[in-house]
Amino acid sequence: PERNPLLNPVLEWYARCARELPWREPDATPWAILVSEIMLQQTPVARVLPVWTEWMRRWPTPAALAAEPPGEAVRHWGRLGYPRRALNLHACARAVTDLHGGEVPSDHATLLSLPGVGEYTAAAVASFAFRGRHAVLDTNVRRVLARAVRGEEYPPKATTAAERALAESLLPGPEDAPVWAVAVMELGALVCTARAARCADCPISGLCAWRLAGKPPYEGPARRG
Ligand code: ADE
Repeated sequence: PERNPLLNPVLEWYARCARELPWREPDATPWAILVSEIMLQQTPVARVLPVWTEWMRRWPTPAALAAEPPGEAVRHWGRLGYPRRALNLHACARAVTDLHGGEVPSDHATLLSLPGVGEYTAAAVASFAFRGRHAVLDTNVRRVLARAVRGEEYPPKATTAAERALAESLLPGPEDAPVWAVAVMELGALVCTARAARCADCPISGLCAWRLAGKPPYEGPARRG
């Protein structure tokens, strides 16, 4: 008995419409997924793809990167921006090799202890790499839930306890939780974007509180997200 009416339409849409991205392939390692999530924190997919591909060719394991000086990570960060993330990834590689037997840890609390890994990234890696059941709240997910469930055009500036409680109440069983997380994220990235809600292409437009309310305009301070 499923208490999330968005689940099946969103999963069906994802199976039909998702982008094929290498870090979503079944053979992607936890390290490959951690690298992708750190790169994607502040950089769009199109710019991440070539840098991620070259990075994984050069350093396919945490041990491979940990053996390099930190400057090598910065040198191969390319034009992704926020180069502190390169140093964080290098520090992650060293922490994983020194403290965790060379394997990216699977549990949320240990992931959170890694350099540059915050709540979002810990939940994303625990979910996508280890199939854990976690609410994965990035800006895309927060916007979809704000619109579809809360009936508001944009989520609050910073994640609230109410948003977290809502996301947790919508989590499906362990089998579907990871694909639900990536599917809602993809819906926000491709259809329910910050600039335009493409409701004609949306699998849950008929259930969307914001649309059913006539898309009330956002009335707070100017913002994006
Ligand atoms: N797939 C998994 N995580 C992602 C992210 N953060 N951005 C885009 N696609 C993703």
